[in-house]
Amino acid sequence: MCGIFGYKGPNAKAGQIVLEGLKRLDYRGYDSWGVAVQCLDNIWLRKDIGKISDVDHIADMPDAHTAIAHTRWATTGGVTRANAHPHASTDGSFVLAQNGIVENFSELKQGLLTKGYTFVSETDTEVIVRLIEEELKLNTDFVSAIRHAFSKLTGRNTIIVLTKSGEIYAARNGSPLVVGVNTQTNEVYLSSDTLSFAPYADQMIVVDNGQMVKVDNTNTITMFTLATGEVFEYTLEAMTVKADKIDKEGYDHFMMKEIHETPYVLRQIVAQDAQSLQAFAHALQRAHRVYVIGSGTAGIASYQIAFYLRLYGKLDAVSLIGADVQSYYEIFQPDDIILAPSQSGETADVIEVLEHAKEKGVQIGSIINMPGSIMTRMSDYPFMCNAGPEICVMSTKVFTSQIAWGYLLAKTVQGKYEEGIQNLQTLSVIVQRYLDNQNNHKALKALANYLSKKEHIFLLGKYQNFAIMQEGMVKIIEASYKHAHAIPAGDLKHYAITLMEQGIPVIVAVSDDVVKNDVITAINEVRLRGAYVIAIAHKQEDYYDYYIPTEDAGETDAIGTIIPLQLTAYYLALKLGNNIDKPRNIAKSVTVK
Ligand code: G6P
Repeated sequence: MCGIFGYKGPNAKAGQIVLEGLKRLDYRGYDSWGVAVQCLDNIWLRKDIGKISDVDHIADMPDAHTAIAHTRWATTGGVTRANAHPHASTDGSFVLAQNGIVENFSELKQGLLTKGYTFVSETDTEVIVRLIEEELKLNTDFVSAIRHAFSKLTGRNTIIVLTKSGEIYAARNGSPLVVGVNTQTNEVYLSSDTLSFAPYADQMIVVDNGQMVKVDNTNTITMFTLATGEVFEYTLEAMTVKADKIDKEGYDHFMMKEIHETPYVLRQIVAQDAQSLQAFAHALQRAHRVYVIGSGTAGIASYQIAFYLRLYGKLDAVSLIGADVQSYYEIFQPDDIILAPSQSGETADVIEVLEHAKEKGVQIGSIINMPGSIMTRMSDYPFMCNAGPEICVMSTKVFTSQIAWGYLLAKTVQGKYEEGIQNLQTLSVIVQRYLDNQNNHKALKALANYLSKKEHIFLLGKYQNFAIMQEGMVKIIEASYKHAHAIPAGDLKHYAITLMEQGIPVIVAVSDDVVKNDVITAINEVRLRGAYVIAIAHKQEDYYDYYIPTEDAGETDAIGTIIPLQLTAYYLALKLGNNIDKPRNIAKSVTVK
C-alpha cells in the first residue's frame, strides 16, 4: 500500500504542503517516497528511499502552486530510488504515482516493449505511464488518454497524474481517493485519506470507484465517469474530521498515547446513537446468518464480536478472515448480513467480499474508524468508532473500540442495552485505573525484559479470552519480531503440548469463572513440563510464576484484558530497540490484495 497526496492552490509552497501531507500518510508505507512540483512549465522531481517522516526539508525544491507526492510500500519492484514514485513520462511532460497493483502488468509491459518503449524501473506503475503516453499519441487530451489507459489495467488501482502545464488528474478503481477543498482560500487537496488534509480543508468529495477528477489551473474541480468520460455534478460534504494537530501529546510514541486513550474510546462507544444500534440489532435478529469479517487485527475483532453475538444475542454468527471467504460466496443468501469491522474501511480483501455479497443482496453493516471510507459508503448500517486518528501502525485503541461496540450490539440484541452501557462505563473506569497505576507499568516492563530474552512466547485463552490472547500474540509479533503463538487452552493437549519445555513462557488469561477450571488444567499441563506461567488474573495463586493483577470487569472483562498485553508488546519493542510506531514490513492500511 502506498499513500498519495496532491495540492493545487494559491500557496507557493506546494512542495512543502505535499511533504507535510505525505508525513500524515506514512502509515500506508514507509520504504521510499517522492515529490513532484510543477513550475515554469516544467516538473521538478525528487525521490529517495527511506521514511518520509525522517525528511524535514528537501533541498532546492522550487516554489510552486501545484505538487503531488507518494509514500511507498513496495509490491512490484524492490525498494530502490528508481522504483520510488512518481514516475515520469519519456518526454517529461507528466509524472504519475499509483496506489495498487496492476495484476496484468507483465502482459502489458511485454506489449509495450514490443512497441519500443523503454523502462527505467521494475514497477507496474511505469507501465501505466507508458500506456498513457501511447494513448496521448491518439488522443490529444489527458482525460481520454488516462481513461483509456486505466481501462486496460486489472486489479485495484488509484493513480494521480501531474502535467507540466500544471493540471492534476486522479482516477480511482479500488484504492482510496478523497478530495479536500478549502472554500475560503480556493485550495484543493487530493489524498488517500481525509485525515491528511483535515486541518486545512472545510469540504470534501469522496471519489468512488470508476470516477476521475481533474483540477485545472483555476483550481476548478471537474469529475468524470471513467467508463464514458461524461462529466457529472459532484456534491461537497462538510469535513467532520477534527484533526487540527496529530501529535504524541507528551508520550514517547503514538502506541502508548493510543493505549492511554482507551477509556475515552470506550466512552465514545457508550455515546453511540442508541436508535441506530437498535435498528441494526433488529435487522440482525431477522437475518438468516450473520458473518463478521475482517483482516489482521480486525479479523480477530470479528472473532470476538461474533462470540458476543452468539453468547448474548443468541445469533447464528460466524467470523471469517477477509482473505479466505471465497468458499462462502456460493452460500451467501439475501437474508444474511455481513458485519465488517475495519480501522481504515479500505482493506482490499474485505472490500472484495463485500462486493460479492452485495451482488447476492446481502446487507452490510460496518464499524470503521476512518471517516469517508469506501466500506462506510458500501454499508446499509454504517457505524463509526469515533476513536480519533490511530497513527501507530499496530492497532490498539481501535481494536478495543470495535470489540466494545460488538459487545454493546450483542447486549442490544439481547434486549439489555442499558446493562451493556453500564458495563462499558464501569470498564472505562477500571481501564483508567489500570493505566494510571505505575506499579502495573513497572511489572509489565519487568515482564517485557524477561520475554525479550526468549525466542518463543505462547499464549493461552479460552471462551471470551481466546481472541484476546490471539490479539496479544499479534501485538507481540508486530512489536518484537519474535515467534508468538496463541492456543485455545482446551486444545493445548492435542498438539502444542509437545512444545512445552523448561523455561518456555506461557501467558494465560484466567479471568473467566465459566471456564476457569479448564484453564487451570492447561496451566498444570504446561507447568509440569517446565513452562513459566505468566497469569493475567484477578487473584494471586501459587501455581503462577508471574502474576499480572487485573480488576474483574464481569461481562466486559476480556475487553480490558487486552490492555496489559498491548502494554507488554510496547515495552518489548522498547527494550529491543524496535521501531514502535512503524514495525518493519507492515502497513496500517492494506488496499491491495
Ligand atoms: C493491516 C494492519 C493491521 C490491520 C489490517 C486490517 O494488516 O497492519 O493492523 O488490522 O490491515 O486493517 P483494517 O483497516 O481493515 O482494520
